Amino acid sequence: MRRLRLADALLPILLALAAGGAATTAAAAAAKAPAAPPAPPNVTAEMAKGGCKAFADLIAASPDASSTYQSAVEGGMTVFCPSDDAVRAFLPKYRNLTADGKAELLLFHAVPVHYSLGSLKSNNGPMNTLATDGAAKNYNFTLQNQGDVVTIRTTASAGAPARVKSTALDKDPLAIYVIDRVVQPVELFKPAPAPTPAPAPAPAADAPKAAGGKPARRPAPAVADAPGPAEDDAAPVDQKKDAKKSAAAAGAPCFRWWLATALAAAAAASTLA
Ligand SMILES: *[C@@H]1O[C@H](CO)[C@@H](O)[C@H](O)[C@H]1NC(C)=O
Ligand SMILES: *[C@@H]1O[C@H](CO)[C@@H](O)[C@H](O)[C@H]1NC(C)=O
Ligand SMILES: *[C@@H]1O[C@H](CO)[C@@H](O)[C@H](O)[C@H]1NC(C)=O
Repeated sequence: MRRLRLADALLPILLALAAGGAATTAAAAAAKAPAAPPAPPNVTAEMAKGGCKAFADLIAASPDASSTYQSAVEGGMTVFCPSDDAVRAFLPKYRNLTADGKAELLLFHAVPVHYSLGSLKSNNGPMNTLATDGAAKNYNFTLQNQGDVVTIRTTASAGAPARVKSTALDKDPLAIYVIDRVVQPVELFKPAPAPTPAPAPAPAADAPKAAGGKPARRPAPAVADAPGPAEDDAAPVDQKKDAKKSAAAAGAPCFRWWLATALAAAAAASTLA
């Protein structure tokens, strides 16, 4: 009895407190409401609108890929989505992949940073993707600006980089660029075959010209150097190596030419003396 009476006495106070609390919460929510961030864009819907319906459908059909895509948007994301034609051409290879392989391939086409077209054009080099396992740094591709064209390549598709054709969307936090082919990660596809060996070095007499003008071509052992499956990633590194070797190759004939000239001069001098 007593207890009940106490509760009766307290009830109005509790109700008043609760009402006050609710009012405060409601007021806070009302004050906050205008500042609340807009819902993140629906990535697959935006891709479909922007000309990548086929690719968006593949993502929608892969639970792993679609959940990762959607949860990554808020932090900023750039998608390189292959056009419908590109996806159609790639489908036979795509169907050959396991479910995990499919998800990796799809995640490989987005990077967890929002790049406007301008910032994309001032970037060159390796980029991590949504498929990258941080520590392993795998599933990366190389972004390369060639004149006004943004290209993406891996050593698996070295002969034919994908090009950015158009901007489907560029609105912070999401950018979507349409590319003209599916980019193939070396983790899922064999590296491109070694480039055909360069022709035999030019005769010595021509060497000074070659050294003075275009760099001499790298001579024969191209095949021996070709990246094997074990060290497949290194396109940019290889290119650097190639550049160094070309410079060295160009230097050698130049030195020989200089030596020949010096010897000839010495011979002429001794004849005159
Ligand atoms: C995005 O839009 C598609 C339809 O275009 C819908 O099926 C899907 O559920 C949406 N996803 C989210 C996360 O809202
Ligand atoms: C798919 O896999 C099979 C068996 O490994 C292979 O023979 C075929 O060439 C592959 N198809 C494509 C398009 O890669
Ligand atoms: C790119 O991925 C390969 C594995 O495919 C890895 O060995 C390499 O270190 C990565 N490169 C960068 C710059 O993260």
